[in-house]
Amino acid sequence: MKTLLCKQFGPPESLVLEDVPSPVAGPGMVVVEVRACGVNFPDVLIIEDKCQFKPSLPFAPGGEISGVVKELGEGVTGLAVGDRVLASTGFGGFAEEIAIPAAAAVPIPESMDFPTAAAFLMTYGTSYYALKDRAHLRAGENLVVLGAAGGVGLAAVELGKAMGARVIAAASSEEKLTVCREHGADETIDYSQENLKDRMKELTGGQGADVVYDPVGGSYSELAIRATAWEGRFLVIGFAAGDIPRIPLNLTLLKSCQIVGVFWGAFVGRNPEDNRRNTSELFDLFAQGRIKPYVSSTYPLARGAEAIEEIGGRRARGKIVVLP
Ligand SMILES: NC(=O)c1ccc[n+]([C@@H]2O[C@H](COP(=O)([O-])OP(=O)(O)OC[C@H]3O[C@@H](n4cnc5c(N)ncnc54)[C@H](OP(=O)(O)O)[C@@H]3O)[C@@H](O)[C@H]2O)c1
Repeated sequence: MKTLLCKQFGPPESLVLEDVPSPVAGPGMVVVEVRACGVNFPDVLIIEDKCQFKPSLPFAPGGEISGVVKELGEGVTGLAVGDRVLASTGFGGFAEEIAIPAAAAVPIPESMDFPTAAAFLMTYGTSYYALKDRAHLRAGENLVVLGAAGGVGLAAVELGKAMGARVIAAASSEEKLTVCREHGADETIDYSQENLKDRMKELTGGQGADVVYDPVGGSYSELAIRATAWEGRFLVIGFAAGDIPRIPLNLTLLKSCQIVGVFWGAFVGRNPEDNRRNTSELFDLFAQGRIKPYVSSTYPLARGAEAIEEIGGRRARGKIVVLP
């Protein structure tokens, strides 16, 4: 089978397409024929050895997949050859086949196609856990989403609307903000042109945001905290801009506000039951047409490096998917 391998850490163009033996389903495992693989920011980091998660070389990037069960390992129950499944895999998805623990395979709803299924779990799982379980977002609250046209950002825009919030999307270009409006944003801020703090205050009648969703970091975080409301919640999602900000703690005291960490991958491992319930609620929202991944471009496996480059180069809108 073909796979796109990281054999030495480096930029996307150092990935190598190779033929390798098909994986075998060990006890408790299944082999899945990969139909689609969602690309996420951690793929940019993992191939350059900048991710907290470090697989040993060689490995294929690609942290979430959808496909068809091809083989069952010993002791696997509840799944059959031919089942359509999706899974969060961490890495290994840039391949025609992958072996995963049977427990990680989630049956795909009938109305969901493979590219959509591969673009679903990480972004909506993260944003739902963040907004529901960490921020306790309430209907009518002002939610500001930074990097709002990106993968997790656009999921937060849609979920914020579905939860009844007033959503203010912030991004770096008019083109990206148009995507945010198409996905439900009530107001927008172009932080490449406008002062983030001043516009957040202006759009919230001087009160500031009740909840800020920040997957970007860098210089935007402190500006956003300075425009957070009394008893607001600032969600730390990631640092796509590269810099991890240092925040003066007096800002939290002055507003009785909270800076709240969010680590969805660890939540999945520690609270599998809660995660299963969240996933099922997300499938319900999908079935009702209230959330839908926006797959803006797809690439064949051989051009997987370009898919990662699109994200690392700050050009991606919504989700990028590789079709092995
Ligand atoms: N905490 C968790 O559990 C969790 C789970 C999944 C992902 N994450 C993290 O969330 C972040 C976003 O992931 P994603 O998959 O949604 O990525 P993405 O689709 O690339 O979105 C990231 C956004 O960040 C902004 N950005 C600002 N400076 C950038 C730069 N130098 N390079 C690239 N983007 C830049 C871009 O929006 P503008 O151009 O509009 O600024 C971009 O749309 C990453 O840091 C990722 O590791 C965290």
